[in-house]
Amino acid sequence: MKRKILVVCLGNICRSPLAQGIFEFYTSREEVFVDSAATSNYHQDASPDNRSIKIGLKHNIDIRSQRSRQIKAIDFTNFDEIYAVDQSIFQRLQELAPEKKLQKKVKMIDDRDVHDPYYGDENDFEAVFQQLDSCIQKLI
Ligand code: 4NP
Repeated sequence: MKRKILVVCLGNICRSPLAQGIFEFYTSREEVFVDSAATSNYHQDASPDNRSIKIGLKHNIDIRSQRSRQIKAIDFTNFDEIYAVDQSIFQRLQELAPEKKLQKKVKMIDDRDVHDPYYGDENDFEAVFQQLDSCIQKLI
């Protein structure tokens, strides 16, 4: 059965689109379906942040066709694994889970936070990429 993975961050324009692109890079579409979403509604239907697009392309990962969306209650049923990029997102997803048993699907993508690079610079985006690349390789 196809593994269904959802990665969640705050805006779905910086960290989780890169995580989606990296998961897709290492897995086949036949085996794994990957998507990403936001806990907030700050950036509905927006393209990824240009800095995430640029870092992705530098590593041969094209995330330009992705569009941001907010997580929905049904996602907790539809996906098998839901990865939070940091502790605050993890906590928020516990609150948003429509049923107690669905909370178990929520995990941290790494054992430490993937820090929000939104107010940072190119180096912060590169650090996010490297951390995601390394933890995602361990998860697949
Ligand atoms: P993301 O980064 O959660 O990695 O997509 C952010 C994007 C936008 C905002 C914060 C974080 N914002 O405040 O608009």
